[in-house]
Amino acid sequence: MKKEITFTLNGFETHVEVEPHEKLLDVLRDKLGVKSPKYGCGRGECGACTVLLNGKSVRSCIIYAIEVEGLEIETLEGIERDGLTDLQKSFLEHNSFQCGFCAPGIIVTTTELLRNNPHPDKNEVKEVLSGHLCRCTGYNIVVDAIMDVSKDKVGGKI
Ligand code: FES
Ligand code: FES
Repeated sequence: MKKEITFTLNGFETHVEVEPHEKLLDVLRDKLGVKSPKYGCGRGECGACTVLLNGKSVRSCIIYAIEVEGLEIETLEGIERDGLTDLQKSFLEHNSFQCGFCAPGIIVTTTELLRNNPHPDKNEVKEVLSGHLCRCTGYNIVVDAIMDVSKDKVGGKI
């Protein structure tokens, strides 16, 4: 039976009717038009569907939409609402992505990392990236881009 849920999506109060079995990823993409989270594995393993739930990275393919009632969801659309962030610019400068399928999830997770720890070391960056599968890049240029922005960051947006 459908139930209306209310939550904050990228800063806006959002109401949507969901079935009890519907996953957050499907509701975001198919009912709310938020397309940055991607369907990769559907089993919580690849990281392509990552969003922030109350500021923490979660896999939206394994969370039921009804679980986010009253909570706050932020996706890449919210992160880049005011334009590309320094982190995104650094990824562009390093040509960090090829097909880009993994990019939204990686940007969301590394945004969380840099918000909480503006100057992570390489091992901390690698640890965070270990939850994301990228079939194109080999990761080094992703790590380099994050390390650059971490080195330069002295305040302001990530
Ligand atoms: S689609 Fe969610 S972790 Fe792969
Ligand atoms: S750039 Fe293609 S999967 Fe990462």
